[in-house]
Order: sequence, then C-alpha cells, then structure tokens
Amino acid sequence: MKRTVDEITGSRRLRRLRKFSWSRRLVRETRLHVADLVWTLFLCEGENQRRPIASMPGVSCLSVDIAVEECLKAAELGIVAIAPFAREPLSRKSDDGAYIAAADNLTNRFTRALKQHKVDIGIITDAALDPYTTHGHDGICRNGIIVNDESVEMVVRGALAQAEAGADIIAPSDMMDGRIGAIRDCLDIHGFQDVAIMSYAAKFASAFYGPYREAIGTSDLLRGDKSSYYVDHANSNDALREVEQDLNEGADMLMVKPGLLYLDIIRRIKDNFSAPLFAYQVSGEYAMLQAASANGWLDGERAMMETLLAFKRAGCDGIFTYYAIEAAKKLRAASEASA
Ligand code: PBG
Repeated sequence: MKRTVDEITGSRRLRRLRKFSWSRRLVRETRLHVADLVWTLFLCEGENQRRPIASMPGVSCLSVDIAVEECLKAAELGIVAIAPFAREPLSRKSDDGAYIAAADNLTNRFTRALKQHKVDIGIITDAALDPYTTHGHDGICRNGIIVNDESVEMVVRGALAQAEAGADIIAPSDMMDGRIGAIRDCLDIHGFQDVAIMSYAAKFASAFYGPYREAIGTSDLLRGDKSSYYVDHANSNDALREVEQDLNEGADMLMVKPGLLYLDIIRRIKDNFSAPLFAYQVSGEYAMLQAASANGWLDGERAMMETLLAFKRAGCDGIFTYYAIEAAKKLRAASEASA
C-alpha cells in the first residue's frame, strides 16, 4: 500500500521553516561573529616586507612594521586577538632553541611594537621551540630523543620573555608534559598573574602542518616527525586526558589542532569541560581550500564561511584562522547589508 507523504511524516514537514530567508535566519542555531576570529600571521625580518608563501596563496610573511600596521587594521575590523608565528633566520637557531627566550626575537619585538599603540586587541603568543631549533622540533633533542623536562625549562623561559614583552595569552603548543603548570608557576612568581594560558591541549601529529613549516622555514630542517610528543591522530580519549591534565595544571583556555578533521574531539571536549575552547584551522586546511578555489573547483568564499561555522557548530568559542581578515570583511559587509 502506497502512503501519501503526510501519512509517512505524520504531517511533519521540516522544510516548512527552510522556505524563506527570514525563517531560516529565525531558526538558525549557530552564528559566526567577527569576535570569534583570531588572526594567525607570520613574521619575518626586515622592513616593509611582505613575502608571499607559495603553499599558502594570499598569505605572506610580514616584517614587524607591516605586521603592526595590519594588526591595527584588523582591530578596526573588530578582530579581537591575533597570534603571530615567527620565521627566524637560520643564524638565530640553535640546538636548544634558546632564542625563544630573547627579549628581541621577532615575536617579542612585534609584541612590544603593537602594544605601543594601545589598541584593544589581544596578543596570543606561541610558546614552542620549533622556530628556534636547528632541527625544527618543539623540544630539545638528545641522541635522537626529544627530552621532556629540559624542553619544559626552555619553553618556560620563552613564555616569560613573551609575557615581559607584553603578550596577553601564552599558548604553549609543544605538547611537553608538565609545561602548563611550569609556565603558570613562572608567570606567577614574576608578577604575571593576569597573563592567561591557552593550552594547545589536543594537538595531533598531522600531515596538515606542511605549509606552516614552509612559511617559518622549518620543513627542510625537520628530521623525523613529531609523533613522540603530539597526540596520535587515531586517539580521542588521549586528547581528553590531555585536556583534563592541562586544566588541572592551570590552563585557562583550550585549543584543538588541526581543526576540521577533529570536530569530533571538539564536541567531546565541549560536552565534558567548560573552559573556553578554540580550534586552529591550520595551514594545510587553508592550502586545500585555496588550491581548490583557485582551480574553480570550490566556491572559495562559501567554503571558507562554511568551514568556519562548522567549528562553532561543533562547540568552539573561537577559531584561529588565516582567513580572519577576509572572513571579518565578509561578515561586516553582510551585517551592513542587513542593517
Ligand atoms: C609547532 C607549530 C605547528 C603549527 C604552529 N606551531 C605545528 C608544527 O609545525 O608541527 C602549525 C600551524 C599551521 O599548520 O597552520 N609548535
């Protein structure tokens, strides 16, 4: 017996509310705001420099003066925070990555320069050794092994130098055990009780960091991979244990990285913990979208907005993204059009 659609659905028609733009907007569950976006940018030496990164079309390494100018514009667009990553020259690199602790390394020079402008934008600095080591690892390497406790000591020195330069949030991304507690202790002892810590708590060993390593010049240096310290990408419980541990050690905020492939992890963390949660839409995710849209295979703008919204739907409070400026412009244009 063939039933009518109303008999099948019991007269429930979910398409009713999808019919009009206004009704779709009325029942929309998730929204993306400019304030959700953290702009990730690359720093390089020199003055007046914008050096394009081949595998990240649309992204360039910026010298400190230009980066500051761009951040002032970002603040005007409503971007709430920025996260700089440094391409340090080879001459600054060493086996132990000690340049992370230099008051005048690129990141710290940038932080000081931007802070002089007293704009309402947060600076989130990456506390990890990889831009500063000759081998591209996030830790100190002894006989082929990334040694944990010595690496923590160096990362702590770097975090302190970042706080002294004026960083608002320290974001250790190296996955060494005990780094959150050690950084918290050091910041507190030195009077930086108000500097927050965002833990890259669930950072996975991933193929999607490739373009970033080209951008900061570590791809040719890196020997082996980072699977002895990043979370195995097959694991989900492991990521939750990292989160629990880092919160116990004093993390204020959490990060999942990469982003789009780990929406399941984001949802599990959001359901189990109440700390502010961020995702990092990493370089490989950006490169994939840019490559497909350059070929006309994807509508790049729509794909950008859809992926950013996906992070919010999965449970993120904000997103680190190379698209922040572009997305902020689009969001502002949309809100002006509907005002
Ligand atoms: C390492 C670090 C990585 C990224 C930022 N800091 C990963 C890595 O090189 O292993 C990746 C960011 C991206 O891919 O956009 N501390």
